[in-house]
Amino acid sequence: MGKITIAIDGFSSTGKSTIAKQLAKSLGYIYVDTGAMYRGVTLFAMRHGYVGGEEDNIDGLLEALPNINLKFVYNKALGFSELYLNDENVEQEIRTLAVSRQVSRVATIEAVRLKLVAMQQEMGKDKGIVMDGRDIGTVVFPDAELKIFMTASPETRAARRYKELLGKGEKVTYEDVLKNVQQRDYIDSHREFSPLKIAENSIEFDNSDMGLKEQLDRILNFALRII
Ligand code: C5P
Repeated sequence: MGKITIAIDGFSSTGKSTIAKQLAKSLGYIYVDTGAMYRGVTLFAMRHGYVGGEEDNIDGLLEALPNINLKFVYNKALGFSELYLNDENVEQEIRTLAVSRQVSRVATIEAVRLKLVAMQQEMGKDKGIVMDGRDIGTVVFPDAELKIFMTASPETRAARRYKELLGKGEKVTYEDVLKNVQQRDYIDSHREFSPLKIAENSIEFDNSDMGLKEQLDRILNFALRII
């Protein structure tokens, strides 16, 4: 089977990573969750007080950027890769609402994007990859053979994320989660550097009323037609 690059972009909590992960498994491809990388930088920034306190210290974060070492390590038992920040497994911590509240602002910083995009391009240089994020089809791999843009209503997405966070034992309200989803949508699509937008030649995919299996079958079909 040939190897292609598959870019999956879209708004937050559209279920991109669930689909991308399954798709990669079905094709024997590598899966990269780029949102995890922005979350990793954000967690570092929060721990060092560069964001999340009374006042942001973006200059401090920029200076510390070379000290941020991110890598994905495959967890055989779980069947997927986990994010390590300076050799510490931060997979759980990066998914909290506290990190979600800061991440979109950190993701507006050009130097942060340049660092992470370079890493992502390196990871995908041999193709055979499914990458999900906000700028994969527009900036990271504009030549990707298959580009999907996932959407769903904010209420559907917030309900999914709310259930997920409750399942992890986080004390959150549906209203807080909806507000966060809407704020991230706004910041992600209005930022100056690589804003979230539909890439050229992208297939738009609204999954508000679609189950996981149907989504996977459809996208797998698109991929197999190209491969
Ligand atoms: O995908 P996820 O919701 O985990 O991403 C967290 C945040 O990281 C997004 O809301 C967005 O601000 C940022 N992001 C980005 N570019 C990407 C992936 C994520 O700006 N390629």
